[in-house]
Amino acid sequence: MHIDIVSAVPELLDSFLNHSILKRAQDNKTVEIFVHDLHDFADNKHRRIDDYPYGGASGMVMSIQPVEKAITQLQKERHYDEIIFPTPDAPLYNQKTANTLSTLGNIIILCGHYKGIDQRIRDHFITMEVSIGDYVLTGGELAAAIITDSIVRLIPGSISDETSALTDSFQDNLLSPPVYTRPAEYNGWKVPGVLLSGNHKDIDEWQMNEALRKTQQIRPDLLSDDLTE
Ligand code: ADE
Repeated sequence: MHIDIVSAVPELLDSFLNHSILKRAQDNKTVEIFVHDLHDFADNKHRRIDDYPYGGASGMVMSIQPVEKAITQLQKERHYDEIIFPTPDAPLYNQKTANTLSTLGNIIILCGHYKGIDQRIRDHFITMEVSIGDYVLTGGELAAAIITDSIVRLIPGSISDETSALTDSFQDNLLSPPVYTRPAEYNGWKVPGVLLSGNHKDIDEWQMNEALRKTQQIRPDLLSDDLTE
């Protein structure tokens, strides 16, 4: 998979993309991730990428020109399956969307900043808009990082234990059951006996019951939603 992230503050993504699973996935060629500085595409000598909003609203708006140039330049190199714009005024991102995106070949993620981006960018270039939650961030970089992480970990080859992504919370509309590791007892706090029993049928049943119990208690909405179809 090939991911291009277009950002006005590319440094924000450096550390995130260069550690842990995302680094390994790039090193072993499971995914290629390139971050592009939006200022490099600005056709003005001050490399400005924003301007005042028409109509006199407060804040600055990201201009069309640098974004258009960035996207059309990238499109000369390859066809993109989706051009994604993370923004709070969009449908909520979830595991179902991550699953779908993880099967694609090439995507662009455009990080917004300031008060928003010129609507014509959204109308003419963006193919998918997603919000990562009902709160507002200063820019789209954190959202882009979250989207990238959630996609890449699903691509075979990025996680060493490949079954582990499939047993994540949300993959069956269920939250994950509790997990434990050694020691079996600490300060008198014991690991549930069934997990030490070696009986895989009992363990599977316990994990399923715990997943259901947790989901019912914490996120009952998931039990009536179909996030995975
Ligand atoms: N940019 C700013 N806030 C955001 C949010 N909640 N989701 C996605 N992108 C954003």
